[in-house]
Amino acid sequence: MNVTGLEGIEVTQSAVSSIIDGTLAYRGINIDDLATNSTYEEVIFLLWNGRLPTQEELGDLKQKLVEYGTLPEPITNLLKSLPHDVYPMDKLRTTVSALSLFDTHTKDMSRESNYHKALKIQSKISTIVAAIQRINDGEEILFPKSEYSFSQNFLYMLKGTEPHQITVESLDKALILHADHELNASTFSARVTVATLADIYSGIVSAIGTLSGPLHGGANEAVMRMLEEINDIENVETYISEALFTNKKIMGFGHRVYKTGDPRAKHLKVMSEALTELTGQRNFYDISTKIEDIIKSEKGLLPNVDFYSASVYHSLDIPKNLFTPIFAISRTSGWIAHILEQYDNNRLIRPRASYVGAQGTEYTPINQR
Ligand code: ACO
Repeated sequence: MNVTGLEGIEVTQSAVSSIIDGTLAYRGINIDDLATNSTYEEVIFLLWNGRLPTQEELGDLKQKLVEYGTLPEPITNLLKSLPHDVYPMDKLRTTVSALSLFDTHTKDMSRESNYHKALKIQSKISTIVAAIQRINDGEEILFPKSEYSFSQNFLYMLKGTEPHQITVESLDKALILHADHELNASTFSARVTVATLADIYSGIVSAIGTLSGPLHGGANEAVMRMLEEINDIENVETYISEALFTNKKIMGFGHRVYKTGDPRAKHLKVMSEALTELTGQRNFYDISTKIEDIIKSEKGLLPNVDFYSASVYHSLDIPKNLFTPIFAISRTSGWIAHILEQYDNNRLIRPRASYVGAQGTEYTPINQR
């Protein structure tokens, strides 16, 4: 059996999200339904509690997400001291790791404490991502306002102005669509980490590192770089045929699980068309659809969640290097749901490797090598 990449291998049981016959559902609710009718805060509650919140529970969650969104001074000082030009995902990973040092409950493994820390992490991660950009722009760090929703607050903390309703709704939908995805690579790494009974911060730090790679969450930024490089619809064919000729992967295409299309991509495609039209940048949507047509006919590959999210975030005036950190903000809800589930029914995750190396080799003393 070829187990490279653990393809198709079920390594745990989970009741958080499912991919069945190409349909993605969170706790049994189809993401199409959630993307159309829900809010990101509702989805957080759903993922962590297994059911939708009552009005009161939702109000309480929203209030805590605002309340916990401030950062301790040593963390803002740390953020300001980080090199200006390092990748924001690396700053995020380092800062979340540092957060654990200022939380006196980090090592309290009770469910109640972990749920409380979950709220703090979910809230602060959004402030940290916005702060990374604010510091780079030479602006002061902002904290959430009680009258704003989670998405509104992120955009406010990023830009310093009241965000437009369309921008808020688009970001919120994008956050819902990215919130969880069964046993994707970063979620798996979070579960492996906490299965050793390491603390919740360690699980999130592992997940952020895993998400950052271009084969996973890092693809959305790479897609935007490609769209900007192509720049004109006339250049699409040459660019893509050269890339395919040299066996380069086209970012934002293909998926380990979906072979008949990523159910999240269709929502992002619709959003991309509407938003690029609205912002006078339809060029990026048109280039994207042309790339989609070519890759489908040449390689039989379809766009994944990262492909159209690039032009969506770009239309929301979000800098490219924040695309993956925003993915991390959203996926934190899913990582936490899986971490809590892992703690609830834990067993160390320790698979075996099929050994293919040399055997019986004798040690050669250094002076005889
Ligand atoms: N562009 C061109 N060819 C591709 C692409 C692509 N994007 N994706 C897969 N292929 C080809 C491979 O070259 C390979 O061809 P071969 O059999 O002739 O060698 C074949 O399709 C199978 O590809 P694998 O990489 O083995 O498929 P795997 O299941 O391991 O990888 C993955 C899935 C990583 C998503 C892959 O499709 C890829 O690299 N895509 C580009 C990066 C990307 O968009 N990542 C985001 C994924 S979604 C997410 O994580 C949020």
